[in-house]
Amino acid sequence: MIDIDRIKEDFLNQKEGVDSLPALNNLKARFLGRKGIITEQLKNLGSLPKEERPLWGKRLNELKRFIEQEIEALRASIIKTEAEEALRRERIDITLPGAFVPPGRPHPVTQVLDEIVEIFRSMGFAVEEGPEVELDYYNFEALNIPKDHPARDMQDTFYIKTDRNAPQRSHPMESDVVLRTHTSPVQIRGMMKRKPPFRFIAPGKVYRCDADISHTPMFHQVEGLMVGEDVTFAHLKGVLEYFIKRLFGEETPVRFRPSYFPFTEPSAEVDIGCIICRGSGCRVCKETGYLEVLGSGMVHPRVFEEVGYDPQKVRGFAFGMGVERLTMLRYGIDDIRLFFENDLRFLRQF
Ligand code: PHE
Repeated sequence: MIDIDRIKEDFLNQKEGVDSLPALNNLKARFLGRKGIITEQLKNLGSLPKEERPLWGKRLNELKRFIEQEIEALRASIIKTEAEEALRRERIDITLPGAFVPPGRPHPVTQVLDEIVEIFRSMGFAVEEGPEVELDYYNFEALNIPKDHPARDMQDTFYIKTDRNAPQRSHPMESDVVLRTHTSPVQIRGMMKRKPPFRFIAPGKVYRCDADISHTPMFHQVEGLMVGEDVTFAHLKGVLEYFIKRLFGEETPVRFRPSYFPFTEPSAEVDIGCIICRGSGCRVCKETGYLEVLGSGMVHPRVFEEVGYDPQKVRGFAFGMGVERLTMLRYGIDDIRLFFENDLRFLRQF
Protein backbone atom coordinates (compact mmCIF):
# COMPACT_ATOMS: atom_id res chain seq x y z
CA MET A 1 0.00 0.00 0.00
CA ILE A 2 1.32 3.42 -0.98
CA ASP A 3 -0.52 6.45 0.34
CA ILE A 4 -0.64 8.38 -2.96
CA ASP A 5 -3.05 10.98 -1.57
CA ARG A 6 -0.86 11.62 1.44
CA ILE A 7 2.21 12.22 -0.74
CA LYS A 8 0.24 14.53 -2.99
CA GLU A 9 -1.11 16.46 -0.03
CA ASP A 10 2.43 16.75 1.44
CA PHE A 11 3.64 18.09 -1.88
CA LEU A 12 0.84 20.64 -2.18
CA ASN A 13 1.44 21.79 1.40
CA GLN A 14 5.19 22.19 0.91
CA LYS A 15 4.65 23.94 -2.41
CA GLU A 16 2.64 26.60 -0.62
CA GLY A 17 5.56 28.60 0.82
CA VAL A 18 7.86 28.28 -2.21
CA ASP A 19 8.51 31.68 -3.86
CA SER A 20 12.09 31.52 -5.08
CA LEU A 21 14.03 29.36 -7.50
CA PRO A 22 16.39 27.89 -4.84
CA ALA A 23 13.39 26.88 -2.68
CA LEU A 24 11.72 25.40 -5.75
CA ASN A 25 14.81 23.34 -6.54
CA ASN A 26 14.83 22.03 -2.96
CA LEU A 27 11.18 21.04 -3.27
CA LYS A 28 11.90 19.27 -6.54
CA ALA A 29 14.84 17.40 -4.98
CA ARG A 30 12.68 16.27 -2.03
CA PHE A 31 10.11 14.66 -4.31
CA LEU A 32 11.82 13.87 -7.62
CA GLY A 33 15.53 13.86 -6.76
CA ARG A 34 17.68 10.74 -6.62
CA LYS A 35 16.72 10.22 -2.99
CA GLY A 36 13.30 11.91 -3.37
CA ILE A 37 10.04 10.46 -2.08
CA ILE A 38 8.68 9.48 -5.52
CA THR A 39 11.99 7.96 -6.59
CA GLU A 40 12.18 5.90 -3.40
CA GLN A 41 8.63 4.67 -3.86
CA LEU A 42 9.32 3.67 -7.47
CA LYS A 43 12.35 1.72 -6.27
CA ASN A 44 10.20 0.00 -3.66
CA LEU A 45 7.68 -1.28 -6.28
CA GLY A 46 9.73 -4.46 -6.56
CA SER A 47 8.90 -5.44 -3.01
CA LEU A 48 5.15 -5.47 -3.77
CA PRO A 49 3.30 -8.62 -4.82
CA LYS A 50 3.70 -9.08 -8.55
CA GLU A 51 0.03 -8.53 -9.47
CA GLU A 52 -0.14 -5.21 -7.61
CA ARG A 53 2.91 -3.69 -9.23
CA PRO A 54 1.28 -2.41 -12.51
CA LEU A 55 -1.48 -0.59 -10.66
CA TRP A 56 0.83 1.17 -8.17
CA GLY A 57 3.36 1.83 -10.87
CA LYS A 58 0.72 3.56 -12.97
CA ARG A 59 -0.58 5.63 -10.03
CA LEU A 60 2.93 6.59 -8.90
CA ASN A 61 3.88 7.70 -12.40
CA GLU A 62 0.72 9.77 -12.66
CA LEU A 63 1.63 11.47 -9.38
CA LYS A 64 5.18 11.99 -10.61
CA ARG A 65 3.92 13.70 -13.78
CA PHE A 66 1.53 15.81 -11.72
CA ILE A 67 4.37 16.95 -9.45
CA GLU A 68 6.62 17.65 -12.45
CA GLN A 69 3.94 19.81 -14.07
CA GLU A 70 3.23 21.68 -10.87
CA ILE A 71 6.93 22.41 -10.38
CA GLU A 72 7.42 23.66 -13.94
CA ALA A 73 4.30 25.84 -13.71
CA LEU A 74 5.54 27.28 -10.43
CA ARG A 75 9.00 27.85 -11.94
CA ALA A 76 7.50 29.85 -14.81
CA SER A 77 5.47 31.96 -12.41
CA ILE A 78 8.48 32.65 -10.12
CA ILE A 79 10.59 33.72 -13.11
CA LYS A 80 7.85 36.00 -14.34
CA THR A 81 7.36 37.60 -10.92
CA GLU A 82 11.08 38.16 -10.48
CA ALA A 83 11.34 39.75 -13.93
CA GLU A 84 8.42 42.04 -13.15
CA GLU A 85 9.98 43.04 -9.87
CA ALA A 86 13.29 43.79 -11.59
CA LEU A 87 11.47 45.96 -14.10
CA ARG A 88 9.68 47.82 -11.33
CA ARG A 89 12.98 48.37 -9.51
CA GLU A 90 14.62 49.70 -12.63
CA ARG A 91 11.81 51.96 -13.67
CA ILE A 92 12.81 55.58 -14.11
CA ASP A 93 10.41 58.41 -13.62
CA ILE A 94 11.38 60.63 -16.52
CA THR A 95 9.15 63.40 -15.21
CA LEU A 96 11.42 63.92 -12.16
CA PRO A 97 13.64 67.02 -12.39
CA GLY A 98 17.26 66.10 -13.23
CA ALA A 99 20.26 66.70 -10.97
CA PHE A 100 21.74 70.12 -11.81
CA VAL A 101 25.14 69.94 -13.47
CA PRO A 102 26.59 73.45 -13.59
CA PRO A 103 27.75 74.09 -17.16
CA GLY A 104 31.40 75.04 -17.55
CA ARG A 105 32.47 77.67 -20.04
CA PRO A 106 35.59 78.47 -22.00
CA HIS A 107 38.26 80.59 -20.28
CA PRO A 108 38.13 84.26 -21.40
CA VAL A 109 41.47 83.83 -23.20
CA THR A 110 40.07 80.80 -25.03
CA GLN A 111 36.94 82.76 -25.94
CA VAL A 112 38.94 85.59 -27.49
CA LEU A 113 41.32 83.10 -29.17
CA ASP A 114 38.32 81.33 -30.72
CA GLU A 115 37.00 84.67 -31.98
CA ILE A 116 40.37 85.58 -33.51
CA VAL A 117 40.61 82.21 -35.26
CA GLU A 118 37.05 82.62 -36.58
CA ILE A 119 37.74 86.09 -38.01
CA PHE A 120 40.82 84.88 -39.93
CA ARG A 121 39.08 81.73 -41.07
CA SER A 122 36.39 83.95 -42.59
CA MET A 123 39.17 85.57 -44.66
CA GLY A 124 40.36 82.18 -45.90
CA PHE A 125 43.29 81.62 -43.53
CA ALA A 126 44.11 77.99 -42.70
CA VAL A 127 45.11 77.05 -39.14
CA GLU A 128 48.61 75.67 -38.57
CA GLU A 129 50.30 74.34 -35.45
CA GLY A 130 53.88 73.86 -34.34
CA PRO A 131 55.76 72.45 -31.33
CA GLU A 132 56.12 74.42 -28.09
CA VAL A 133 59.50 72.79 -27.42
CA GLU A 134 61.37 74.15 -30.41
CA LEU A 135 64.80 74.13 -31.96
CA ASP A 136 66.89 77.28 -31.76
CA TYR A 137 67.06 77.06 -35.54
CA TYR A 138 63.31 77.61 -36.08
CA ASN A 139 62.79 79.96 -33.13
CA PHE A 140 65.73 82.27 -33.98
CA GLU A 141 68.22 81.30 -36.67
CA ALA A 142 65.86 80.82 -39.62
CA LEU A 143 64.02 84.01 -38.63
CA ASN A 144 67.17 86.05 -39.17
CA ILE A 145 67.70 86.58 -35.45
CA PRO A 146 71.47 86.64 -35.03
CA LYS A 147 73.27 84.99 -32.13
CA ASP A 148 73.74 88.26 -30.25
CA HIS A 149 70.19 89.58 -30.68
CA PRO A 150 68.61 90.78 -27.43
CA ALA A 151 65.61 88.49 -27.99
CA ARG A 152 67.93 85.59 -27.30
CA ASP A 153 68.93 87.01 -23.96
CA MET A 154 68.84 84.25 -21.40
CA GLN A 155 66.51 86.33 -19.28
CA ASP A 156 63.83 85.95 -21.93
CA THR A 157 64.37 82.47 -23.31
CA PHE A 158 63.81 79.20 -21.50
CA TYR A 159 66.57 76.88 -22.66
CA ILE A 160 66.09 73.14 -22.42
CA LYS A 161 69.15 71.22 -21.24
CA THR A 162 69.63 68.11 -23.29
CA ASP A 163 72.24 65.38 -22.71
CA ARG A 164 73.00 65.45 -26.38
CA ASN A 165 74.25 69.01 -26.57
CA ALA A 166 75.17 69.86 -22.99
CA PRO A 167 78.79 68.62 -23.01
CA GLN A 168 79.88 70.36 -26.22
CA ARG A 169 78.55 73.77 -25.22
CA SER A 170 80.79 76.42 -23.73
CA HIS A 171 78.09 78.01 -21.58
CA PRO A 172 76.14 75.65 -19.28
CA MET A 173 72.82 77.35 -20.12
CA GLU A 174 73.32 77.26 -23.86
CA SER A 175 71.33 74.69 -25.74
CA ASP A 176 69.79 74.35 -29.17
CA VAL A 177 66.45 73.36 -27.69
CA VAL A 178 64.20 76.12 -26.32
CA LEU A 179 60.62 76.73 -25.31
CA ARG A 180 59.45 78.82 -28.24
CA THR A 181 59.44 82.51 -27.35
CA HIS A 182 56.94 83.36 -30.08
CA THR A 183 54.79 81.58 -32.69
CA SER A 184 56.99 82.86 -35.53
CA PRO A 185 58.88 79.50 -35.85
CA VAL A 186 55.61 78.14 -37.27
CA GLN A 187 56.14 80.54 -40.20
CA ILE A 188 59.29 78.61 -41.08
CA ARG A 189 57.77 75.16 -40.57
CA GLY A 190 54.65 76.18 -42.49
CA MET A 191 56.62 77.57 -45.45
CA MET A 192 58.90 74.52 -45.63
CA LYS A 193 55.97 72.22 -46.17
CA ARG A 194 54.02 74.41 -48.63
CA LYS A 195 54.34 76.15 -51.94
CA PRO A 196 52.98 79.71 -52.37
CA PRO A 197 50.37 81.09 -52.61
CA PHE A 198 48.91 80.39 -49.17
CA ARG A 199 47.75 82.07 -46.00
CA PHE A 200 47.57 80.60 -42.52
CA ILE A 201 47.45 81.57 -38.88
CA ALA A 202 49.25 79.70 -36.09
CA PRO A 203 47.73 80.07 -32.61
CA GLY A 204 49.47 78.60 -29.57
CA LYS A 205 51.34 78.87 -26.31
CA VAL A 206 54.66 80.69 -26.05
CA TYR A 207 57.11 81.03 -23.16
CA ARG A 208 59.27 83.83 -21.82
CA CYS A 209 61.21 84.02 -18.61
CA ASP A 210 59.32 87.04 -17.32
CA ALA A 211 56.64 87.79 -14.70
CA ASP A 212 54.85 90.97 -13.56
CA ILE A 213 51.40 92.53 -13.96
CA SER A 214 51.65 92.43 -17.74
CA HIS A 215 53.90 89.37 -18.26
CA THR A 216 53.48 85.68 -17.44
CA PRO A 217 56.01 82.90 -18.22
CA MET A 218 53.46 81.33 -20.55
CA PHE A 219 51.05 83.22 -22.75
CA HIS A 220 49.30 82.83 -26.10
CA GLN A 221 50.05 84.29 -29.49
CA VAL A 222 48.45 84.11 -32.88
CA GLU A 223 50.87 84.25 -35.80
CA GLY A 224 49.72 85.05 -39.32
CA LEU A 225 51.44 84.57 -42.65
CA MET A 226 50.29 85.23 -46.21
CA VAL A 227 52.61 84.58 -49.17
CA GLY A 228 52.06 84.95 -52.90
CA GLU A 229 53.39 86.59 -56.05
CA ASP A 230 51.66 89.91 -55.51
CA VAL A 231 51.08 90.21 -51.77
CA THR A 232 51.70 93.82 -50.71
CA PHE A 233 51.80 95.99 -47.62
CA ALA A 234 48.31 97.18 -48.62
CA HIS A 235 47.05 93.61 -48.11
CA LEU A 236 48.70 93.56 -44.68
CA LYS A 237 46.93 96.81 -43.74
CA GLY A 238 43.59 95.70 -45.13
CA VAL A 239 43.62 92.32 -43.38
CA LEU A 240 44.71 93.71 -40.00
CA GLU A 241 42.33 96.67 -40.08
CA TYR A 242 39.44 94.39 -40.90
CA PHE A 243 40.51 92.03 -38.10
CA ILE A 244 40.75 94.79 -35.47
CA LYS A 245 37.40 96.28 -36.38
CA ARG A 246 35.74 92.87 -36.14
CA LEU A 247 37.33 92.23 -32.73
CA PHE A 248 37.04 95.70 -31.14
CA GLY A 249 34.24 97.33 -33.11
CA GLU A 250 33.81 99.25 -36.35
CA GLU A 251 34.63 102.63 -34.77
CA THR A 252 38.01 101.58 -33.35
CA PRO A 253 40.87 103.81 -34.61
CA VAL A 254 43.80 101.82 -36.06
CA ARG A 255 47.34 103.18 -36.51
CA PHE A 256 50.40 101.63 -38.17
CA ARG A 257 53.72 102.73 -36.71
CA PRO A 258 57.18 101.91 -38.13
CA SER A 259 59.04 99.32 -36.07
CA TYR A 260 61.74 96.69 -36.27
CA PHE A 261 61.72 92.88 -36.33
CA PRO A 262 64.66 90.87 -37.71
CA PHE A 263 62.33 88.70 -39.81
CA THR A 264 60.25 91.45 -41.46
CA GLU A 265 61.20 94.46 -43.59
CA PRO A 266 59.60 96.92 -43.46
CA SER A 267 58.06 96.27 -40.05
CA ALA A 268 55.14 97.94 -38.33
CA GLU A 269 53.50 97.85 -34.98
CA VAL A 270 49.76 98.28 -34.92
CA ASP A 271 48.03 100.44 -32.33
CA ILE A 272 44.34 100.87 -31.59
CA GLY A 273 42.72 103.92 -30.02
CA CYS A 274 42.83 103.51 -26.23
CA ILE A 275 39.81 101.51 -25.10
CA ILE A 276 39.90 103.11 -21.64
CA CYS A 277 40.06 106.87 -22.39
CA ARG A 278 38.91 106.72 -26.02
CA GLY A 279 41.96 108.70 -27.13
CA SER A 280 42.03 111.59 -24.66
CA GLY A 281 45.01 110.17 -22.76
CA CYS A 282 45.16 108.10 -19.56
CA ARG A 283 47.45 105.95 -17.40
CA VAL A 284 46.81 102.77 -19.43
CA CYS A 285 47.87 104.35 -22.76
CA LYS A 286 50.56 106.43 -21.01
CA GLU A 287 48.80 109.59 -22.24
CA THR A 288 49.35 108.67 -25.90
CA GLY A 289 45.73 107.82 -26.70
CA TYR A 290 46.89 104.59 -28.37
CA LEU A 291 47.61 100.99 -27.32
CA GLU A 292 49.96 98.65 -29.13
CA VAL A 293 48.22 95.41 -30.11
CA LEU A 294 50.42 93.56 -32.58
CA GLY A 295 53.65 93.33 -34.55
CA SER A 296 53.78 92.87 -38.31
CA GLY A 297 55.72 93.41 -41.50
CA MET A 298 56.67 92.17 -44.95
CA VAL A 299 58.56 88.86 -44.80
CA HIS A 300 62.33 89.51 -44.88
CA PRO A 301 64.11 88.21 -48.06
CA ARG A 302 66.58 86.27 -45.86
CA VAL A 303 63.67 84.35 -44.36
CA PHE A 304 62.39 83.42 -47.83
CA GLU A 305 65.89 82.30 -48.84
CA GLU A 306 66.13 80.15 -45.72
CA VAL A 307 63.01 78.17 -46.68
CA GLY A 308 64.03 77.90 -50.35
CA TYR A 309 61.69 80.54 -51.80
CA ASP A 310 62.96 83.03 -54.38
CA PRO A 311 62.57 86.52 -52.81
CA GLN A 312 62.47 88.00 -56.33
CA LYS A 313 59.33 85.98 -57.07
CA VAL A 314 57.30 85.88 -53.88
CA ARG A 315 56.29 88.40 -51.27
CA GLY A 316 54.42 88.02 -48.06
CA PHE A 317 53.33 89.63 -44.88
CA ALA A 318 53.43 88.29 -41.33
CA PHE A 319 52.00 89.39 -38.04
CA GLY A 320 51.94 88.24 -34.45
CA MET A 321 49.69 89.20 -31.55
CA GLY A 322 49.40 88.39 -27.85
CA VAL A 323 46.03 86.89 -26.97
CA GLU A 324 46.11 87.76 -23.23
CA ARG A 325 46.87 91.36 -24.09
CA LEU A 326 43.97 91.53 -26.57
CA THR A 327 41.68 89.92 -23.99
CA MET A 328 42.75 92.46 -21.35
CA LEU A 329 42.01 95.35 -23.71
CA ARG A 330 38.75 93.83 -24.84
CA TYR A 331 37.42 93.51 -21.27
CA GLY A 332 39.35 96.28 -19.48
CA ILE A 333 41.38 93.87 -17.29
CA ASP A 334 44.50 95.47 -15.77
CA ASP A 335 46.44 92.45 -14.41
CA ILE A 336 47.40 89.51 -16.65
CA ARG A 337 47.87 87.23 -13.62
CA LEU A 338 44.08 87.14 -13.13
CA PHE A 339 43.90 84.80 -16.13
CA PHE A 340 46.00 82.17 -14.39
CA GLU A 341 44.77 82.30 -10.80
CA ASN A 342 41.58 80.36 -11.56
CA ASP A 343 39.52 82.46 -9.18
CA LEU A 344 35.94 81.55 -10.04
CA ARG A 345 34.69 85.00 -9.03
CA PHE A 346 36.83 86.37 -11.87
CA LEU A 347 36.17 83.62 -14.41
CA ARG A 348 32.38 83.62 -13.90
CA GLN A 349 32.18 87.16 -15.33
CA PHE A 350 32.84 85.93 -18.85
N1 PHE B 1 57.13 87.38 -33.23
C1 PHE B 1 56.95 88.76 -32.89
C2 PHE B 1 56.87 88.91 -31.36
O1 PHE B 1 56.68 87.92 -30.67
C3 PHE B 1 55.70 89.33 -33.52
C4 PHE B 1 55.76 89.39 -35.01
C5 PHE B 1 55.30 88.33 -35.75
C6 PHE B 1 56.26 90.52 -35.66
C7 PHE B 1 55.34 88.38 -37.15
C8 PHE B 1 56.29 90.58 -37.04
C9 PHE B 1 55.82 89.53 -37.78
O2 PHE B 1 56.99 90.00 -30.84
